[in-house]
Amino acid sequence: MDYLEYKIGVPRLILIIGDITKQVTYAIVNAANNELAPGGGVSGAIHRVAGPLLWEECKKLGGCLTGEAKLTKGYNLPAKFVIHTVGPVYSGKPKDKVNLANAYRNSLELALDHNIKSVSFPSISTGIYGYPVKEASEIAISTIIEFLEEYPKIERVRMVLHNMEDFTVYVSTARGMLIKKGLLKPETLV
Ligand code: APR
Repeated sequence: MDYLEYKIGVPRLILIIGDITKQVTYAIVNAANNELAPGGGVSGAIHRVAGPLLWEECKKLGGCLTGEAKLTKGYNLPAKFVIHTVGPVYSGKPKDKVNLANAYRNSLELALDHNIKSVSFPSISTGIYGYPVKEASEIAISTIIEFLEEYPKIERVRMVLHNMEDFTVYVSTARGMLIKKGLLKPETLV
């Protein structure tokens, strides 16, 4: 199983194993750095597929603070837009949680402001920035669920996990939270 879909009221939260650059949603989210420079990981992959015009546009944006988000076009990507957000470099301090939640929330707010109805996220900060996946998944999933409950105009949010290990962690977190909220009955678990 590499795809799960949960209803959060009308909107859907989808967990999938895959490559963010291949997602056909209105926007994909980039796990960027403060300079919005191409870098490695997700960011390197997105810039490679989008082509050099993405970096040209990024250069004009004046960087991005940790926890904030900026919008560009998607160029050669299947997605029409890229939302660039900067997660925290993991330090183990309480501010990490705030910054990571802000990265998800500000990305979703930017989508809402631009009438973007479907968004794909990678697992922000859990690669080069070293955030433990379990802790990061709790912040990612709770922030997304709360946002969709408040703003059902966003129809679909995909969490695109790069491997089975991360997928399993995110699925377990999502199930736990949805059962607690009464949005998923334990007997309907798959
Ligand atoms: N699709 C989906 N997920 C991917 C992909 C991909 N193509 N490539 C990597 N990942 C996963 C990684 O396995 C990791 O779990 O995305 C997660 C985030 O990893 P990073 O890209 O390293 O992002 P982050 O930890 O936020 O570090 C950001 O990395 O590329 C630089 O410029 C970027 O300095 C910034 C830093």
